[in-house]
Amino acid sequence: MFLLLNINITLQNNIISSLFVGQNLLILKEVNSTNDFLKNLLSNSKPLPEGTAIMAETQYAGRGQQQNKWHSEPGKNLTFSILLNPGFLSLDEQFDLTRAMSLGVTDALEPLLGQQLKIKWPNDIYYGDKKLGGMLIENLIHGSSIKSTIVGIGLNVNQEGFPDEASNAVSVKQILQKDYDLHSLLADICSSIESWYLNLRAGKKETVRIAYLDRLYNINQPRPFKANGETFTGTITNVRSNGLLVVNTDNGEREFSLKEIEFLK
Ligand code: BTN
Repeated sequence: MFLLLNINITLQNNIISSLFVGQNLLILKEVNSTNDFLKNLLSNSKPLPEGTAIMAETQYAGRGQQQNKWHSEPGKNLTFSILLNPGFLSLDEQFDLTRAMSLGVTDALEPLLGQQLKIKWPNDIYYGDKKLGGMLIENLIHGSSIKSTIVGIGLNVNQEGFPDEASNAVSVKQILQKDYDLHSLLADICSSIESWYLNLRAGKKETVRIAYLDRLYNINQPRPFKANGETFTGTITNVRSNGLLVVNTDNGEREFSLKEIEFLK
C-alpha cells in the first residue's frame, strides 16, 4: 500500500514523442529516490507499462553507484528512473544495456554540448574531465534472465555550484551559461534512450558496442590509475562484453571491474 501524502503527482506525457519510453510519466514533487519509488511501485501495483518513467522535482535521498549518495539541488536538475524489460538479454549481456543507456544520454546532449561529451567507464556522463551525470542501473533477475531493469539517471542541468566533496561535478548551466528546460531535455533523453534500446532489441549489439567505445572517455590515452593499492600508468584499449575494463600496462593487458580500479587525476 502506498502513502502518497505530501507527494504531488502529475501525470504528463504530452511532451515526449517516443513510442514508449516516457509515455507513462509520473512527475513527483518530492521523493527519497526515484529508483526506490519505481521499485516499490513495481512490487505493489499491477504491472506497469515498459518505458514508465518517474521524475522527481526534489530527490532527497538519491542513491549513486557503490553505495554513494547522489545530491541534487531541489528543482534544478534531472533525477528520473525508467522501467525497461530487457528479457531478450542474457545475464552475461547486461552490460549492453549500460552501453545503450549511456549512449542514449550522450546522444541527447550532443546537440547542446558537442564532442567534449564522453562516457566515462562504466556509465558516467562526462564533459571534458568533469562529471555531468551518472546512472544507477538496477536489474530484477528472474531465473537466468533479466525480468526488468530500473535505469536511474541523474544529470546536473541548472545547478550553479557544487559542494567541495563533489567538486568534480559540472552542470549544463555552468558550461552554457544559461538555464535549460528540464522537461524538454527529459523528452530528448527518453527518445534517444528508446532508439538505442531498440537497436539492442533488434540484435544490433555490435553497433552498440562500437558506438560506446567511440564515446569512451580517455580511450587509447595513457593515464594514471590505482588498483590493489598500486598506482600505475595504463591505457584503456577496450571494454569486454561483460563490462570489464581492459587496460594496457607495463605488465601487459589487465582487466578490471568497477570495484577494482580507480581513475586518478
Ligand atoms: C552515480 O554516478 O553514482 C549514479 C547516480 C545515479 C543517480 C540517479 S538520480 C535518479 C535515480 N534515483 C536514484 O536514487 N539514483 C538515480
